[in-house]
Amino acid sequence: MIELSEAEIEGIKHEMSLYEDPGAATIEALKIVQEHRGWVSDEAMAAAAQVVGVTPTQMEAVATFYNLIFRQPVGRHVIMLCDSISCYLTGYEEVRDHLKSTLGIDFGQTTADGRFTLLPICCLGDCDMGPSMRVGEVYHNRLTPERVDEILAEYK
Ligand code: FES
Repeated sequence: MIELSEAEIEGIKHEMSLYEDPGAATIEALKIVQEHRGWVSDEAMAAAAQVVGVTPTQMEAVATFYNLIFRQPVGRHVIMLCDSISCYLTGYEEVRDHLKSTLGIDFGQTTADGRFTLLPICCLGDCDMGPSMRVGEVYHNRLTPERVDEILAEYK
């Protein structure tokens, strides 16, 4: 089993100290591992489970439920395009097709240069300003193909 770094272990232990039940820090532990590694491998998840004191299966259940935990390698920037009803009504299809053709990838894939991963996601809570997407932690809305081009250029 791989070892977590000192920073990862310290971060997880700090989160555990904030809860009466340390197992409640499971999701935070996964986020910490992902922050350090970009994604959460089976081995890293098992190591984090050991620190938190839950089984790898319990941790896997949380990771599977929470769609912001990546269980496979991703690009430097993860694009999550809202794939829900309000965005369908405001131009989603055009934006989706433009993203796919510009990046040369489909949902679930990463560009050959490792720059972007494209994923669909349920409502981002930005429904009155759709179509919407999130790139990393940043939300972008009122998307058009032109606006998508401008946004992609910001991410190296
Ligand atoms: S439906 Fe797209 S942000 Fe809510």
